Amino acid sequence: MAASRPRPGEGTHRSTTRDERVAVRDALEAAGKVRAILDVASGNGRWTDALAKKRGASVVQLDLSAESLAAARSADKRERSHNGYVRGDAGALPFRPQIFDLVVCLEFLPYIRRSGGRIRALKEMRRVSRRWVVVEYRHRHGLRFAWQRLRYRLGLEARFPRNHLSYDQIDEELRRAGLGLRQVFPVGGRNSRSWVILAEAPSPDWMKGH
Ligand SMILES: C[S@@+](CC[C@H](N)C(=O)[O-])C[C@H]1O[C@@H](n2cnc3c(N)ncnc32)[C@H](O)[C@@H]1O
Repeated sequence: MAASRPRPGEGTHRSTTRDERVAVRDALEAAGKVRAILDVASGNGRWTDALAKKRGASVVQLDLSAESLAAARSADKRERSHNGYVRGDAGALPFRPQIFDLVVCLEFLPYIRRSGGRIRALKEMRRVSRRWVVVEYRHRHGLRFAWQRLRYRLGLEARFPRNHLSYDQIDEELRRAGLGLRQVFPVGGRNSRSWVILAEAPSPDWMKGH
């Protein structure tokens, strides 16, 4: 039986596309200066370099798979002493509240089928972040989805990819996790199927006034 192709960030699949890099870079820039970053479900460390480029930022990578963490560590050629590797579950992060400036989570939420599971992970990200959470979602607003909708309306066979949410559904999931959607960075142009989203955990001070 042929082995299934590794998903981005798994096994040997370490490459990032230009569209992904632009969206992630822009989201990180919009967050401004940050010092401590947590990469949730970091896989083989595909994004370590891009994250560490934030000047002076330390990056903690968390993943459920010991194998992926080992791959990430060995790929971290510069062996940055300020990078950390932690084995853990995105649904129960092993960290104290608000110890990171920014929590990033790419290519993970779309693989969680149930909204409840995604919200649980989002709540954990909000809990450990002082302010910013950057997550990737698959969305329904690109040409591919529009094409399938048209086929459906015409009575033709249509295949709607799983776990593609509308803007309102994404906004709702973030709200239920206590996060505010601040900015959307499309991965790609009209054919885009993913958004990198910058969300904000309202600070306790901000919440007092509301
Ligand atoms: C498709 S990879 C994405 C990796 C990385 N974020 C990237 O974009 O390159 C998904 C990763 O999620 C990890 N994972 C799956 N379930 C998890 C969980 N409950 N908690 C933490 N990591 C998990 C897998 O081990 C895998 O490394």
